[in-house]
Amino acid sequence: MNFKVAEGIVGISVHDKEIARFEGQYPVPDGITYNSWVIEDDQTILLDTADSAFTGCWLRELSAVLGEKKPDKLVISHVEPDHSGSIAAFVEAYPDVTLVGNAKTFAMLDQFFPQPVKAARQIVKDGDVLETANHRLRFVFAPMVHWPEVMLAFDEATGTLFSADAFGTFGALERIGGWTDEARRYYGNIVGKYGAQVQAVLKKAAQLPVKRLCPLHGPVLEEQAMSEALASYEKWSAWQPESDGTLIVCAGFHGHTLAAAERIRSELTAAGREAALVDLTAEDKSYAVGLAFRYGRIVLAATTYDGAYAPAMEAFISSMKMKGLQNRLFGLVENGTWAPMAAKQMAAALEGLKNCRVLEEKVTLRSAMNAKNEEEIRALCEALYA
Ligand SMILES: Cc1cc2nc3c(=O)[nH]c(=O)nc-3n(C[C@H](O)[C@H](O)[C@H](O)COP(=O)(O)O)c2cc1C
Ligand SMILES: [Fe+2]
Ligand SMILES: [Fe+2]
Repeated sequence: MNFKVAEGIVGISVHDKEIARFEGQYPVPDGITYNSWVIEDDQTILLDTADSAFTGCWLRELSAVLGEKKPDKLVISHVEPDHSGSIAAFVEAYPDVTLVGNAKTFAMLDQFFPQPVKAARQIVKDGDVLETANHRLRFVFAPMVHWPEVMLAFDEATGTLFSADAFGTFGALERIGGWTDEARRYYGNIVGKYGAQVQAVLKKAAQLPVKRLCPLHGPVLEEQAMSEALASYEKWSAWQPESDGTLIVCAGFHGHTLAAAERIRSELTAAGREAALVDLTAEDKSYAVGLAFRYGRIVLAATTYDGAYAPAMEAFISSMKMKGLQNRLFGLVENGTWAPMAAKQMAAALEGLKNCRVLEEKVTLRSAMNAKNEEEIRALCEALYA
């Protein structure tokens, strides 16, 4: 589909509902969109393409927007294949186009397309401006948000910030249930590690009179939605929790550890606290990673498994470490029928997370929850908010 974004700017969005997992990892029950943008003026400038699975569909949509016109330039904001995948086919269809990128862009492009893409190339630097009769497109480099070559582009004429993957989200253009939840899951899992780099870009963006954000995935954000998105990115990138609630993440086998996790949730909600529970045996880990960026308190509940602990929990902890999660308070729940080991090993695995602390109050189940465990749970819940 295509839609008007601002005076002289049209969005083209392809909705991928077929993909099993985005980037081979993240389930996307509502699919994902690949957005590209057309600036129609004395020159026609296109920003980004679409995943190669949608080349035909995207080219048809593009030609519907362009009519008889030919694009003069293609700006490549990001070389990851979900956006660059159609570049070779695009250049075949429009061989006179000039590709606009930075030195890193073209090095990567040549790696992804070993048969070199035969088109003129224009190399830009941070702060350079691409001018048309009615638009001034200023490049704002955003290294490591979340790849090294990423550059945003700000159209000074309309106040439009083409923000590459930043502010992107899973799901359809008209996200049901708002932007935040799926955008957080996208941020935490895909961009999360690079908080410092996101902070640097937010500082640059704060100097610009931005009226709208145009990310490569999901809806255009304006007004209230834009302010909320900027505020969310400020928090997430600074590792600041959004809420003083608790995330409980559970990995068990037969339901007993989960029962304890559920008890913790009801204990907290009964005390008027916000609490969310992710059962890693039923839900994808990426949901827990996303929520770890929302909550400042995290309870990990895992069953001991072959002298170690449930692999799903190992994978979750490993993701938190990979994303460099900071500023969190952890509580631990373990289960073991003959030699509970999970809490000790989870605590060891959490070492090295910056500004994180593990509570001494832990819960040790020896199969099913008993009266002593109920006491331990109460003590843990109190310690979380002490
Ligand atoms: C594959 C497997 C390996 C296990 N390994 C251990 C172990 O090394 N030490 C231990 O104390 N319990 C071990 N257990 C027993 C679990 O701790 C027991 O199933 C658990 O306490 C029940 O909690 P759940 O209902 O949440 O799975 C193992 C259980 C399974 C199924
Ligand atoms: Fe990307
Ligand atoms: Fe992307």
